[in-house]
Amino acid sequence: MSNGAGYTRLGVNVDHVATVRQARMVQVPDPVEAAVLAELAGCDGIIVHLREDRRHIQDRDLTILRRTVKTGLNLEMASTQEMVKIALEIKPDTVTLVPERRDELTTEGGLEVAMNLEYLKKAARLLQDADIRVSLFVDPDVDQVKASHRVGANAIEIHTGKYADAKTRESAESEYQRVLDAAKIGRKLKLEVVAGHGLDYRNVRRIVQIPEIVEVNIGHSIVARALMVGMEGAVREMRRAIGGVS
Ligand code: PXP
Repeated sequence: MSNGAGYTRLGVNVDHVATVRQARMVQVPDPVEAAVLAELAGCDGIIVHLREDRRHIQDRDLTILRRTVKTGLNLEMASTQEMVKIALEIKPDTVTLVPERRDELTTEGGLEVAMNLEYLKKAARLLQDADIRVSLFVDPDVDQVKASHRVGANAIEIHTGKYADAKTRESAESEYQRVLDAAKIGRKLKLEVVAGHGLDYRNVRRIVQIPEIVEVNIGHSIVARALMVGMEGAVREMRRAIGGVS
């Protein structure tokens, strides 16, 4: 359902619950527990990024989440052979292919889809043949959106990081415009359009006004808020910020 129908889906990324756990290499806090609470608070999906260096989410988390998540499990991953093999074993509902560099703090840019068309097409087909939906994380760039369509992806996730990080009103406006244009083209090409990265309780409001965007994926700001008010409260506040509930 799109925002046009008054509802934008909320996907909650629980990676940074695992970041706190890994800081001590212990068993708490558990992202599996956080996912249960996020679902109880009304989110529409759970997202985890299994990184090559396993800096936060572990293979064990993914295996348990597959059995416990009731809404939908979205696995963010690099399109490497190792990760495709894991995805085919675990069978998340959706795989979001992202670029990954070991030295980055977080996913810094969108996928270079146009330059890796054949490779991504093969990876997407392998996943889709196993009934896994494929979404590509792309910058708000018309060429990348068109290339995602050529790959045969089911969805695109538009990188909202530059919009979120904009320091001036002018740059926020021009980044917003880029997100809007990319969303419109994506929809026209019959891709499902999702948005994510850097979204918080304030900047998400304009993003969910774009009717083509049917889902937002949010991690850091929700986990940060959860430290103060608990996971359920943090997710409920975000649901209220994006609308669709009274
Ligand atoms: N979408 C993608 C593809 C991401 O890589 C991330 C970060 O893991 C997010 C959404 C969530 O971003 P944030 O933690 O800034 O909300």
